[in-house]
Amino acid sequence: MSKKRVLSGIQPTHDSFHLGNYLGAIKQWVELQKEHDAFYCVVDLHALTVETDPKLLEQRTLLSAAQLIALGVDPKLCTLFIQSQVPAHNQLAWVLECITGFGEAGRMTQFKDKSHKKGADRTNVGLFTYPILQAADILLYQADFVPVGEDQRQHIELTRDLGQRFNSKYKEVFNIPAAKIIKSLAKINDLQDPNSKMSKSATSMAGVVELMDTPDATIKKFKSSVTDAGKEIKFDEKEKPGISNLLTINSALSGKSIKDLENEFAGKGYGDFKLQVAEVVVEVLNPIRTRTLALVDDRAELLRMLKVGSEKANQVADKTLADVYSALGLIANG
Ligand code: TYM
Repeated sequence: MSKKRVLSGIQPTHDSFHLGNYLGAIKQWVELQKEHDAFYCVVDLHALTVETDPKLLEQRTLLSAAQLIALGVDPKLCTLFIQSQVPAHNQLAWVLECITGFGEAGRMTQFKDKSHKKGADRTNVGLFTYPILQAADILLYQADFVPVGEDQRQHIELTRDLGQRFNSKYKEVFNIPAAKIIKSLAKINDLQDPNSKMSKSATSMAGVVELMDTPDATIKKFKSSVTDAGKEIKFDEKEKPGISNLLTINSALSGKSIKDLENEFAGKGYGDFKLQVAEVVVEVLNPIRTRTLALVDDRAELLRMLKVGSEKANQVADKTLADVYSALGLIANG
């Protein structure tokens, strides 16, 4: 039986990914590449919705690829590529835009939040069509699963709707994908505001644990994390969102169950617990940071690996696009 197909993407909008990106999405990518035909991309075209200095975007795209490899995404086991190196993404996005309702796109909550924050005058059309480009990323590869965090669920729903709409209107071209979301890790929260998700666009980075932070910076962030009333180390998302978030992070990185951690810290204070979580996190992140820096240092090798990925991605994507164009009555060239 042929392997199931997986596709996911991540934006290179910052100098570092954060713990939410790793636990919600990338950790799944690493597992899934072992038994699936996996395609993972750095979505640099999506990053254009946020105005960035071109030199910085280039640096961050390579740094993103290096972080993924350092985290265990293995270009020998999966297809790792840069989105803009596969022109079919934009080509399919246009086709999908033509079958998306204006109101339908306007209902995307991420668009509503972001455009609300920026104000209508500073919101670009790219931000509006962003989820349609994401749908193209996924449908081009005939993906079965899309490993993501909770905040992407609505975009995957839209992808399914657009795929089904095209199939019934024109021809059965697309496989309809499903989101793969690990419930317990789907929303890692900000250490300073444990009711809000950890996010690259947070106003303060004090509660955002970045993978490229130095060990001292990581320890500081955990030591000053916001905890809750009471003093028991107990998982209770409603009453104790801060401690519950720290327990989730600790458990995901140490491999210990939440129950075992609660027992281990019975009778101990928040201070001891915060310090222990910090140590667990530093132990995992520090080697990843060192490996990332070594990988970006060898730019030629990094570019070579990405080129292999984009060649494979182009082959698969071009085949789907040709089927789409033919189903639409667009005349093939030659
Ligand atoms: P992005 O770059 O914002 O985030 C990358 C992945 O990290 C997950 N994530 C989280 N998971 C748990 N807790 C958090 N606090 C947290 N913050 C972020 C996201 O859910 C995501 O899986 N639109 C996408 C990029 C994209 C994409 C795609 C994804 C473009 N094309 C195709 C899947 C398939 C985004 O902005 O992710």
